[in-house]
Amino acid sequence: VEGNTYYEMIGGADTLARLVDTFYDLVIQHPDLSPLFPDDLSDVKERQYQFLTQFLGGPALYTEKHGHPMLRARHLRFPIGPTQAEAWLACMSEAMDRTGLPEEPRQQIFERLRLTAHHMVNQWEQAE
Ligand code: HEM
Repeated sequence: VEGNTYYEMIGGADTLARLVDTFYDLVIQHPDLSPLFPDDLSDVKERQYQFLTQFLGGPALYTEKHGHPMLRARHLRFPIGPTQAEAWLACMSEAMDRTGLPEEPRQQIFERLRLTAHHMVNQWEQAE
């Protein structure tokens, strides 16, 4: 379905679900990221799916279920350095490729995620 939002442009719920699954398959294999995450990723996947849905202009699923995202605050209990932000983005980029997101708007979405990921950085010493 063609639409005005990034959510619609990438193909909506089905595409987003595939993107999130693919992304966390990569995250749990990444040495800089896997130690931060629980063994059972189902809740994280669900929340990320809900968040990205609204981040890309779809229904406000995350806010309906969990309130204001306050993403930076929710990440403060995890040590996130520039290394982790770059690792997160590398996994997202690879997941976008594997999911086959259309080049337009892939670049614009990635750029917004790049800014968000850097905003999550909460320590600048070696985070390892
Ligand atoms: C939750 C890591 C960036 C969205 C989490 C969790 C971790 C994490 C460890 C919690 C897992 C748990 O509940 O045990 C990171 C790292 C990042 C990063 C290392 C690197 C910069 C991002 C970005 C976004 C995002 C850029 C949004 C585009 C979320 C969401 C949750 C979450 C929505 C669930 C929050 C909640 O409801 O509690 N992240 N994250 N994260 N992350 Fe990230």
